[in-house]
Amino acid sequence: MLGIETSCDETAAAVVRGFPPGPGEILANIIFSQTEAHAPYGGVVPEIASRAHMEILDGVVEQALKDAKVSLAEIDAIAATAGPGLIGGVMVGLTTAKALALGAGKPLIAVNHLAGHALTARLTDGVAFPYLLLLISGGHCQLLAVEGPDRFRLYGTTQDDAAGEAFDKVAKLLRLPYPGGPNVEVAAAQGNAKRYPLPRPLLGRAGADFSFSGLKTAMRQLVQSGAVDVNDAAASFQAAVIDILCDRTGNALALFGRDFPEIETPSLVVAGGVAANVAIGSALTVLAESHDFNIRIPPARLCTDNAAMIGWAGLERFAGGAADPIDVSPRARWPLERSGSGESDQRQGAG
Ligand code: KG4
Ligand code: ZN
Repeated sequence: MLGIETSCDETAAAVVRGFPPGPGEILANIIFSQTEAHAPYGGVVPEIASRAHMEILDGVVEQALKDAKVSLAEIDAIAATAGPGLIGGVMVGLTTAKALALGAGKPLIAVNHLAGHALTARLTDGVAFPYLLLLISGGHCQLLAVEGPDRFRLYGTTQDDAAGEAFDKVAKLLRLPYPGGPNVEVAAAQGNAKRYPLPRPLLGRAGADFSFSGLKTAMRQLVQSGAVDVNDAAASFQAAVIDILCDRTGNALALFGRDFPEIETPSLVVAGGVAANVAIGSALTVLAESHDFNIRIPPARLCTDNAAMIGWAGLERFAGGAADPIDVSPRARWPLERSGSGESDQRQGAG
């Protein structure tokens, strides 16, 4: 399976091989990060992103096939992110995939980017369905049961910002360089997490929803109040995020246990860019183990955006007999819990 990912600021192509439930084999995984192009603006500029995707995607696909030592003729099907994401970028990737599929006479698989993150633990570890997923990325913060390649049961989502978005905004406040998340983590590792008391929205409440806006506001007030130690502020912020994530995930572990009582050793999978944060991973590991859950956190380079996860998610749907029509629409918004019905909408051309 050739996979193509262009929904944000990474231009990526990969070749993966295998069968569900995995693990699969990654034959090539090319990621061209546009970080430098966006850095002067302190965030991703959609127009710059889509133009850059357009300029380099052909070469990235070529390199992936070359690394994998396969020709396009040897590929079984072509998968591309069809949403959610920055629509210009999604259009570039999906249109390229359509052109390749048409030209080479191969099936096209339209992949939900979030399903890519959600299914990565099957590519890496062959985790069996169903499992509990904590998806923490730049655009999403959700807890779901993953029951199949496009079957998801939502337990909770964010009422305001995504976890990665909170990291990125706090990085800006602290004048840490873009991209924010990894730099906040580095600063936090050198700081005192007990220095500044910060709120932990929704802590102790029932359910599995998230909220980060109160924490972000408190951080802004802290910075505006005068001289703050950047490392201590980063550490205090990250500690608050960890408490929020663990509290909400703890509730979701219970909800999952109630919904799937027959599973002896259930798994908690953590996915999305924020899953690359080592301190968050360690705290979640302690939490999962205390509830007799296995924890799976894919390696960092497969947590942040990549095309191997898109190839694998496409492979899972393809193995289940799915393929999409050549006029399938790109979509800026595409909620995971409506993943299955979304795709049948697309088959009817509704988009
Ligand atoms: O999944 P991803 O690569 O892109 C989206 O689909 O959003 O996630 C990117 C997000 C960014 O907000 C980034 O700051 C955050 O993940 N991130 C991190 C770390 N690495 C990436 N946040 C905290 N600590 C990290 N080490
Ligand atoms: Zn992502």
